Amino acid sequence: MRTRALSLAFIAAAILFAAPCRAARPRDASEVTVTELTTNARTNPLGVDTDDVSFGWTMRARVRDARPSAYQVRVGTAPGSAQTWASARIASDRQTDIRLPPDIRLDPATRYHWQVRVWDRHGRASRWSRPAWFETGLVSADDWRGAEWIGGAVDAADQPRPLLRDVLQLDKPVRQARLYATARGVYQLWVNGKPVGDQYLAPGWTDYNQRLQVQTYDVTALLRDGRNAIGAALADGWFRGKVGMGWRTVYGQQLALKAKLRVTYADGSTQDFATDARWRSIPGPYVQADLQDGERYDPARLPKAWNEPGFDAAAWAPVVPRPDTAAKLVPQPDEPVRATEVRAARARLPVPGDAFVYDVGQNIVGVARVRVRGRAGQTLRLRYAEELYRRGARQGELYTDNLRTAGATDTYTFARDETVVYQPRFTPHGFRYIEISGVDSAPDVGEVQAVVLGSDLPAIGDLRLSNPMLDQLVRNIRWGQRGNFLSIPTDTPARDERLGWTGDISVFAPTASRLQDTRAFLSKWMDDMRDVQRPDGNIPAIVPQPGKAFDETGVGWSDAFVTVPYAVWHASGDTRILRRNWAAMLRFYDFVKTSATADGNLLEEGRASFFSGDWLNLEGVDRLHEHRLIATAYFAEDTRMMAEMAAALGDAEQAQAWQMLARRIREAFVLAYRQADGRIELGTQTVYAMALGMGLVSFPGDRDGTAARFVDKLAVDNDHLKTGFLGTPWLLPALSSIGRDDLAMKLLLNDDYPSWGFEIRMGATTMWERWDGIRPDGEFGPVEMNSFNHYAYGAVGDWMFDRLGGLHMLEAGYKRARIAPLMCHPALSEARARIRTPYGVLASEWRRTPGGLRLSVDVPVNTEAEVLLPAPDASTVREGRWHVASRAPGVRDARWAGGVVHLQVGSGHYEFGAPPCPSWGAGGRVAPPATYESGAQP
Ligand code: BGC
Repeated sequence: MRTRALSLAFIAAAILFAAPCRAARPRDASEVTVTELTTNARTNPLGVDTDDVSFGWTMRARVRDARPSAYQVRVGTAPGSAQTWASARIASDRQTDIRLPPDIRLDPATRYHWQVRVWDRHGRASRWSRPAWFETGLVSADDWRGAEWIGGAVDAADQPRPLLRDVLQLDKPVRQARLYATARGVYQLWVNGKPVGDQYLAPGWTDYNQRLQVQTYDVTALLRDGRNAIGAALADGWFRGKVGMGWRTVYGQQLALKAKLRVTYADGSTQDFATDARWRSIPGPYVQADLQDGERYDPARLPKAWNEPGFDAAAWAPVVPRPDTAAKLVPQPDEPVRATEVRAARARLPVPGDAFVYDVGQNIVGVARVRVRGRAGQTLRLRYAEELYRRGARQGELYTDNLRTAGATDTYTFARDETVVYQPRFTPHGFRYIEISGVDSAPDVGEVQAVVLGSDLPAIGDLRLSNPMLDQLVRNIRWGQRGNFLSIPTDTPARDERLGWTGDISVFAPTASRLQDTRAFLSKWMDDMRDVQRPDGNIPAIVPQPGKAFDETGVGWSDAFVTVPYAVWHASGDTRILRRNWAAMLRFYDFVKTSATADGNLLEEGRASFFSGDWLNLEGVDRLHEHRLIATAYFAEDTRMMAEMAAALGDAEQAQAWQMLARRIREAFVLAYRQADGRIELGTQTVYAMALGMGLVSFPGDRDGTAARFVDKLAVDNDHLKTGFLGTPWLLPALSSIGRDDLAMKLLLNDDYPSWGFEIRMGATTMWERWDGIRPDGEFGPVEMNSFNHYAYGAVGDWMFDRLGGLHMLEAGYKRARIAPLMCHPALSEARARIRTPYGVLASEWRRTPGGLRLSVDVPVNTEAEVLLPAPDASTVREGRWHVASRAPGVRDARWAGGVVHLQVGSGHYEFGAPPCPSWGAGGRVAPPATYESGAQP
């Protein structure tokens, strides 16, 4: 039954990942053809900056082992045109981060079309791809001429939030229209009564003193001949509302809107309309709208048809001009926040009292959408919680103590007796349970829904596992990401925090980049980091940094400025994020280097801070003491990553110098902290996990001793984890790197406290912030910091994709991959892993049956893979109809060593078969032998 469910899920996934169907066309002479085209990692983006346009594409092939030998790009303002740029035929197999030459200047507010063709390895050209497009936004101050910042005549934190409107006259047929908008606050626009766009909480969070994002909307279809109305609602958002630990009015006191409508008529002429003194305003129905506290909605304050052209706004007050801002206005570069799913409530729970509680079945981020009957004067109240009390007198009631000061309550006051559908607009909550009160009767379960909100990144990765607990763990990790990627990567979506903690995303970025295409989203957040980089190069622990209310930095947190771009580049092979940030990253790295080498010993001791050490670990050691080791480990890792990134950017000399430096730091670490018997000073799980996983202890003899001590340490801890935020990502990789996949699996499969499995056994549907979020007796962990949706411990997903799914990266973007899943562990009989990389779909799907092992593999065009299968000798491994896999087309090389067949394959789809697994080895050792290589090359 389970297998069947898994299969159905995978058919669905296969459809999701399948390349779009194409109408029959004459066959290309070339073996390779171009499929999906992206600009700045997005498909046909509307509103991009003019200064950094970067193309990418994927390819398909008729044959195995296909790769291109050259490409050519053309760009123009009409499909098929090359008037803007016609590249030469460039002899290269590159297909990401292809840039327009710097001397080509793009116009703002213009649609460009582009195409690419490729030559196969035999020198045969493909046809030109189907055209893709991108449209530039408004970029310079000049582009915004005529548009003013405007605000409501009444506008204060204790007043209803303003509605604004204007009418305009169109006397000629319209060919196209674009609306460009941004706000100090958050906004929603309407044209002729229809909502503009499908985004939420625009313009998104940036440091508003420096940078404001502009959204570009295609409103052609919303306009009509004659009079047209534009309406806007403003609310506090991050600009004026509560952010972080109860900080208010961080960026300003007064809400403001700036927008420009550019109409292109059928005759080719254009006309601009913009926010100016002619607009009018009233205090609207959003009596309160706060990201953390929720929304108070009073429909009586919403004039009927207020945003339509026939409405008489004579009684409305003129808007008030707001002062200009020094902040730069930039087209939003990443995916907007959208409603990505609407989930029906699963059950109404029996609770005493006048309130009705509904279970959505999943901890999510978003808002309720309820259909409720009320009487005039009644106030519907919605409260939200991630958990219910599990015991004691309050059992079954909403547990909201962990939200601290976040009100997380929405209200709707009925103006008359009626049934309404209410969905708050200007607030998100983190919740699984919705409490409804203030009305006479409980809505049916079918009338209560949860609208999932989040930055709408493309889902690219999927991992399905036959072990139900592990499969649930992957789902929990994915939900943690969906909820906490909301304009910025946050720590938690529910309590009064919701901040861009750099350490959390630093450890989670590799996993995140397997599940979603993080290029645009995290590149935007790198812009946020650059905005707040300190003069000494250091990076704050939270970004954006709301005011200066909190001004810490820290090892493992600030280092996100290296680890995050590394993770994004590593997952995609796309160098754009490195180029854009390189100069600033160098300044940060210089800062790290100088604090470490102040006394010339390469040990990092100078960056201790409040966050130092392994946050929320269970060892009970002095974090500041542990700091020295962890900081030196990060110094080595930063240096290794900088070396690899320098090489990717073409600076081989610098890369080599940093590689050597990284080696010296590792040696210094060993000299300082490794004792003769292999013990690492302090002896915590984290220091061992880092020493081995990061390859700090590199000589094989040294590694053996340290590996033995690590295993001893785990045994003392009853083979249960004790790591915190920084150590957890290294725990299982370290065990794999010493040939102990068996122990890694043991830790992963534990389901008693503390473990990932324990959370799941306790009913978790997202990742918890702390291992003791709920204790074995059902009591909640420390209330002052206990979120049930924190993705840091989801960092284990990277190892799961790697060892269970079998997708291990050898070269950035999986240009070279190793497919070596752990197929013989009794707890897992089947796994399916797929990632839509910028090169195409890389997949490994395996099953263990009594008759033998089956492994089907997809390797994208222009990439290659090593496939490893346990087998008594090479001749026992089949591929498709080839009895001996090594003879199959696309298999470049085969060898057998130590019970494992190694096949080198080029692109294509392969179906391998091998004899049944050797028995799960004596002493619990894994067959095949460990094939994992740590991130660092020891
Ligand atoms: C946050 C974390 C963060 C930490 C700093 C907490 O309050 O929720 O996720 O990284 O503080 O150590």
